[in-house]
Amino acid sequence: MYEATVSAPVNIACIKYWGKRNTKLILPTNSSLSVTLDQDHLRSTTTSRADESFEKGDRLWLNGKEETVKEDGRLGVCIKELRNWRKVEEDKDGSLPKLSKWPLRIASYNNFPTAAGLASSASGLAALVASLSKLYSLPQTPSQLSLIARQGSGSACRSLFGGFVAWREGSNEDGSDSLAEEVAPQGHWPEMHALICVVSDAKKGTSSTSGMQRTVETSTLLQHRLKIVPGRMEEISKAIKDRDFQKFGEITMKDSNSFHSVCLDTSPPIFYLNDVSKSIIASIEELNRSSGEIVAAYTFDAGPNAVIYALEKNIPKVLGVITKFFPTSEENSDPFGTAAEALPEGYNTNVVREGGWEKGAVKSLIHTRVGDGPRTLGREESLLGENGEPKVL
Ligand code: DP6
Repeated sequence: MYEATVSAPVNIACIKYWGKRNTKLILPTNSSLSVTLDQDHLRSTTTSRADESFEKGDRLWLNGKEETVKEDGRLGVCIKELRNWRKVEEDKDGSLPKLSKWPLRIASYNNFPTAAGLASSASGLAALVASLSKLYSLPQTPSQLSLIARQGSGSACRSLFGGFVAWREGSNEDGSDSLAEEVAPQGHWPEMHALICVVSDAKKGTSSTSGMQRTVETSTLLQHRLKIVPGRMEEISKAIKDRDFQKFGEITMKDSNSFHSVCLDTSPPIFYLNDVSKSIIASIEELNRSSGEIVAAYTFDAGPNAVIYALEKNIPKVLGVITKFFPTSEENSDPFGTAAEALPEGYNTNVVREGGWEKGAVKSLIHTRVGDGPRTLGREESLLGENGEPKVL
């Protein structure tokens, strides 16, 4: 049987990707940089199988639900490109089975609820590309594979590496140099932890894809942002190499705020941060002020959830602030067993509304850390049953 099962991580950007210069090839208006989070806690797993006896046409299931694979859609393009690369190998070596001609069955599963509003497209597309590359025994490097993952969803290209990852915007028209590369491996700064605050939000927000397009078309502030980002890429890469959390935190918060500013400058404006998000910002800024240094850095993607980066030794402080003002409605199981610490002396509690927020304004907390890139899993982890349809999990 020709099959491969791979898991891939979530990544959360410190320098945000927001804007495309080419929407078909998914070429960005600026480079971006992210931290890969630990797959032990958050991951997408994908099984791909090729079989000559399958009925014609590829089929794909996401969390047990079948999705249509349009040939010219994002998934279809990724599959087609990887098939072409397999074909090249088959043409070079006639003894290889002609997997490129066989129909595919693909099942993908996220171990975190999509409803949590965490970016599932990045880990999902990265897992798809990595599993097909494994199935087809492709010789391409993770950076070369990132060229394909990018066309599935821009931010997915960064999930093909662990540690600290840059997506270089590139300058070639065909996108051949718009790829991801490792800035530093996971082991370079393993003390880098993250606390995800899942913020309740009833309404369905603007998708990243349409939101960023609207920003490109209508925001003049974006032009200013695009002049600032290259310097920030340099600075944060140096901060990571030097393990300088002060600088890392400063740039991360500034860039999140810059990204949400261009969203507000979009017409009609896009609001991803809600009152709880803004209150988290204020509470972390005050933690840093009262600590006399930057001990935590918040960042927000296209939704109200906060991701707070902090060194492991400072997570108790962050938990102290968050659990005091934002009591969660769900039981938090911290895999590290970290306990919250009292607020630092001189912390001005007036920055958060009196008495803090009602229980459940922050639904749950996920404590995780920097992690590794895609992992190849064993046969027993397969998501497909004998018949090529997903197993019931
Ligand atoms: C705010 O990668 O989801 O998370 O390329 O259209 O699929 P598409 O967009 P997507 O955008 C992610 C935007 C972001 C910032 C980031 O991850 O860099």
